[in-house]
Amino acid sequence: MKISYEMQSVINRQINNEFHSAYIYMTMSAKASEMNLKGFANWFEVQAKEEFYHAEGFIKYLIDRGGIVAAPAIDAVDSSWTSVEEMYKASLEQEQKVTADIDAMVALAHAEKDFASVEFLNWYVREQVEEEATASEILEQIRFAKSAPCALMFLDKQLGKRKLEKPEIWE
Ligand SMILES: [Fe+2]
Ligand SMILES: [Fe+2]
Repeated sequence: MKISYEMQSVINRQINNEFHSAYIYMTMSAKASEMNLKGFANWFEVQAKEEFYHAEGFIKYLIDRGGIVAAPAIDAVDSSWTSVEEMYKASLEQEQKVTADIDAMVALAHAEKDFASVEFLNWYVREQVEEEATASEILEQIRFAKSAPCALMFLDKQLGKRKLEKPEIWE
């Protein structure tokens, strides 16, 4: 079954969302570096690269289904955060927005009886559960650490250990 024009268009929009997420996280990495929080900078950099993989997954899927990649402009990043707490608050909001967009794509795939897309999108549905859980967990830890600078430094050290893992579906 050929992929519908509507599904192609929402996948193209989602490719753009994923690259925008990567751009946001890479900017957060730069801002954390400016604050001398090298561990947070590492965490955001790894996250940016994961978002790049998410975009790549949609691109490959679109091509496999005979679709056309549109590649519109990526929005600028509002980088006015003044703390890592603000960055994780913004991350959580961005992830919640992405979850809503992916849920809408699944609903469209069901409506079109496009079961290949339902199956493909399921990975992203599960991934978003992780993305939201991780962002809110780190946000909570930052809030706990706020009254004790050494706790924030400990958290920075922990986040510095994060390493990039290529998502299993693209291995
Ligand atoms: Fe993503
Ligand atoms: Fe994400």
